[in-house]
Formats: sequence, structure tokens, C-alpha cells
Amino acid sequence: MIYLDNAATTLYKPQEVDAAILDALHTAGNPGRGAHEPTLHASRLVYAAREALAELFHAPDPACIAFTANATGALNTALCGLLGPGDHVITTVCEHNSVLRPLYRLRTQGVQLSFAGVDAKGRLQYEKWEELVRPNTRALVVTGASNVTGNCTDLAKAAAFAHRHGLLLIVDAAQTAGAQSIDVQALGVDVLCFTGHKALLGPQGTGGLYVRPGVQIAPLVVGGSGVHSYDEQHPAQMPTALEAGTLNVHGLAGLCAGVQWLLTQGVEMLAAREAALARCFYEEVCGMPGVTVYGDIETALRAPIVSLNIGDEDSARVADILWEDYGICVRAGAHCAPLMHKALGTVEQGVVRFSFSHSNTMEEALHAAQAVRELAQEL
Ligand code: ALA
Repeated sequence: MIYLDNAATTLYKPQEVDAAILDALHTAGNPGRGAHEPTLHASRLVYAAREALAELFHAPDPACIAFTANATGALNTALCGLLGPGDHVITTVCEHNSVLRPLYRLRTQGVQLSFAGVDAKGRLQYEKWEELVRPNTRALVVTGASNVTGNCTDLAKAAAFAHRHGLLLIVDAAQTAGAQSIDVQALGVDVLCFTGHKALLGPQGTGGLYVRPGVQIAPLVVGGSGVHSYDEQHPAQMPTALEAGTLNVHGLAGLCAGVQWLLTQGVEMLAAREAALARCFYEEVCGMPGVTVYGDIETALRAPIVSLNIGDEDSARVADILWEDYGICVRAGAHCAPLMHKALGTVEQGVVRFSFSHSNTMEEALHAAQAVRELAQEL
């Protein structure tokens, strides 16, 4: 099997992740719920995960990191907890439904939305952003990288724009956390939402958000926190403010091990390996007759994603053949990013997405390209 669906979830995690999950499963009590050794141990595991993520994202304090079940939970928390009727938000057509659907729901409650567009290669047209600003614009919500094209948002440009207009900058880092260096303080990001199971190499069911000190997010979920039990209000201080109920300590132990492994290896070194794999695959497929490749592959900063179509063949059929006949795992269809497909003209066909991890090899990339070549000749 050749696994090239790493943008959906990474399949191969470091052994340290397995070991940490198993160890926590047998040793972790409920964090913050007592003073016996298993509960203290659980608190330490959670703190270590916060610390590792704070180091990775260059956050000023581990308390800036709150945990959720996934990036969707983090984005819902940020968007619903920061925006209200009368606010205007600028976002982009590159966004995933984890951003779009909370925003559409907020729109029914009186939040106004504007969408920044892309060119034919799915590149954001930053020069047009100024036209979208209104007196009540409150936030800029952008993905770090499109999960369809792999095109990255220039976060420095986005941050400069947000700061120029006094907007909150909320970043969906589902495709970039762990895959690229991110310095939230240098960039001036207000909220960074991440998932644990992709490039951070943790298990599914983990994720969270970095919240800049001073940004107050009204919690989406309130409940047990282990502290101030007699207060009617959920505690307001981070990270407890955004963490009601028992945390996924077993998963967070695994996430911590994944992030610590990344820190040891070096994100930039791993990113360079992934970029080389994606580039190699792209160079093989780009000139093939009948093959259309989407996105701007020439830019230096990209997620390791190459999406394509073969003639007018349905992308799901191509993905099925890749799996059935070649043992290659890819994702096809709409990728939960409807506006990007509208912009690329692939609403009906979808796209076949090959997404790479540092655990892949050049041989696998070449093998996948050969499979595309054969299908392009046959179909
Ligand atoms: N959002 C994930 C993807 O792009 C699941 O596949």
C-alpha cells in the first residue's frame, strides 16, 4: 500500500506516539480533579502537551493553548466565541467547511461575510482585499493552506492587512500546523486553530487553539472544570475557559509525543522532505497529456499536496482505480471546500488529491506518478 492521503490524516506516526498513548491509558487519572498520583500525572501530561505546542508555535505561555477534539471544534470555538450580530468578517474562498459552516450559521444571526477570491491557479488576490473592508469589519479568517490546491496563504501579508485595519486574525492551521514553521508572536496571529492528527502526528480526537493573551473568547461549551465548582459561571481564565469536561488525556499524551518528535527532528527539515516528494510527483505528472494539475506549484511555500484530474473522468472513479489496481490511497471529490471547487471549475468532477508526508519515499512518489501516466493513457 502507498499512503498518499496525509492531508486527511497521517497514518504513520512515530513509535513514541503509540507508546505515550498506551502508557497514558494505563496511568492517567482525570487531570485537575484531585491530588492523587494518577490525577497529578494526567495534569502533567496535559501540561507537557501545552508546553510542546507553545514551543512549536512560539506562543508566549503554555496557558495560551486550549484543547478541543479537532480543528473544527477549535474553529467553532473561535468564530462563535468572538463574533456577533453586526460584525463583518472577511474570509476567503479557499476555506474548508469547518470555517464556512460556522460562518454561514453566524450569518443567520446577523454576522456579515465577504469572501476574498482567487485567480485561475487558486492564488489569493491580496490586492483586492482593501475593497472588502467595512467600518464594522472585525476579523480576517484565513486558512494557512488550501486543502485542495496546497497553495499557502501568505500569513505575513494577511497579518499586515489585519493589523492595518485593526482586525482579529484567525488562522485555520489544519494543513500547516506541524508541516511548516509558524511563529504566532512574530506574525501577530490572534487565534490559531489546529488539529492533532495530521502533520502534528498525534491521534484523531485531538486538536486545539492558540489564543493570544488579551483575546477573550466566550466559551462554546461550559461545564465541569475541576475548579471553582460553586461558581455559576465557567472560569474565564485560559486555558480552563475553553476546556469544559474531561480532556482526551490519552490522545493528548500521543499528541505531545508527536510534537516533541517534530521538535527533535526539526519542522523545516521534514517540510523540505515533503516538498521534495510533492515536487518530484508534480514534475512527473505535469506534462502528461490529459492530466490537469491544480494550484500554483511554482511557489516556494506550499503544503505537500498535488491535486489533479485525468481528462473529464470523475475523480472518485480515478481514486477507486488507484486503490483497487495500484494500492494507492488518495482522496477524491469535493474535499469539504465548496468555494474552492467553484473557483477551479471542478464542482462536478472534484479533484484527485495526492498528499505527502515525510514518511513517504521518492519511490512511492514515482510509483504514484507512473499510475497516473497509465490511467491517463487508458481512460
Ligand atoms: N480536511 C481533511 C481533508 O482535507 C479531512 O481531507
